[in-house]
Amino acid sequence: MEAINASISFDQRLAAQDIAGSRAHAAMLAATGIVEPSDAEAMREGLLTVLSEIETGYFAFSTALEDIHMNVEARLKEVIGDAAGRLHTGRSRNDQVATDFRLWVRDQLDALDGALDALIRALLDQAEAGADWVMPGFTHLQTAQPVTWGHHMMAYVEMFARDRSRFADARARMNESPLGAAALAGTSFPIDRQMTADALGFDRPMANSLDAVSARDFALEFLGAASICAMHLSRMAEELVIWSSAQFRFVTLSDRFSTGSSIMPQKKNPDAAELIRAKIGRIFGANVALMMVMKGLPLAYSKDMQEDKEQVFDAADNLMLALAAMTGMVSDMQGNRAALEVAAGSGFSTATDLADWLVRVLGLPFRDAHHVTGSLVALAEAKGVDLPDLTLDEMTSVHDGITALVYDVLGVHNSVASRTSYGGTAPSQVRAQMARWRKILG
Ligand code: ARG
Repeated sequence: MEAINASISFDQRLAAQDIAGSRAHAAMLAATGIVEPSDAEAMREGLLTVLSEIETGYFAFSTALEDIHMNVEARLKEVIGDAAGRLHTGRSRNDQVATDFRLWVRDQLDALDGALDALIRALLDQAEAGADWVMPGFTHLQTAQPVTWGHHMMAYVEMFARDRSRFADARARMNESPLGAAALAGTSFPIDRQMTADALGFDRPMANSLDAVSARDFALEFLGAASICAMHLSRMAEELVIWSSAQFRFVTLSDRFSTGSSIMPQKKNPDAAELIRAKIGRIFGANVALMMVMKGLPLAYSKDMQEDKEQVFDAADNLMLALAAMTGMVSDMQGNRAALEVAAGSGFSTATDLADWLVRVLGLPFRDAHHVTGSLVALAEAKGVDLPDLTLDEMTSVHDGITALVYDVLGVHNSVASRTSYGGTAPSQVRAQMARWRKILG
């Protein structure tokens, strides 16, 4: 029974939050006249002693005492004596654990906000370093149109900024206090839930005691937002794995964030990127696992909910680690400007520019222009050259209206510079976005 029942092996991570909650509760019990001020003072002091014992590693956690709440209370009794027995007036472990866990998740959301800020700044630095470097843009991982390095980096800035705002939304919604809901029905003691909510930095007490002890959607929202963020990290990691390969050589990762092979001396492996790419598995797994734990539970508290913590702890730890590794990799990596430029011009990447030119200058309907361009690409392919290498005679053999002016749009720099529509890849647009983000980040 003890082996399946006890949670102390993992919920000891809630110690600081548990003690903060108890200290707020003790102060409230005194302010409302439920306990003597001297007893409350002894509890508050004693709880600090227990906290420092835990923080310094002197605390002996006991599985027989089941969880963090009973471990702390039992030790408090040893430290201050019988007054400790009055601490649990007007509350239950059900509202206590809900409070502790909300506080813990809230701390993680704050830490994640800082970690995302650092990653976004690293991406912005990369974007600024290569705002006008050209590279291939892909759809279906086939060369589509040239884009700029800055534009590509800024795409991730947008994604991670949305992740950040998703975490901020979750934080705002979860920041209500379950404390004082007691076991499920509230209490007959004249407690002041607003006071404990204020003391713990919550915006307000939760309005329904059944909901307060049984809600775990705050944890699920955290895991959902964490899963989406991990998915973004995974996509970026995948690009870094591809880009750092010998076939692409778009980036060189630093030695700090690569590893060698034990057998192949030439190898430099993007292990950090691969592991980031894999982290989505356990983070999304945690999300699914907790969904399954919760989906069949009648109101209010059930012990099933104890299974919430390990999932959230693991997801939070691994997301923080992945963000730190990605930030390090992005800060250190070196975009290979020359290789990017060569790749940008290959694969008939300016075919769309050619078609647009036929529309703009010769007045062809786009469908006809698309067809003419297709013939020119086929011709270039047959000759084993790129579009700008076709002679004007070869061009006019496909459409006699084409003039030498067409060569202007076949160069990759002109191609990207022309894409000045809002949000487009032109360096002028990308620089405007970089300036906007610099201002937002401050
Ligand atoms: N360890 C429990 C949990 O994590 C704390 C609440 C236990 N409540 C109870 N009535 N047994 O959920």
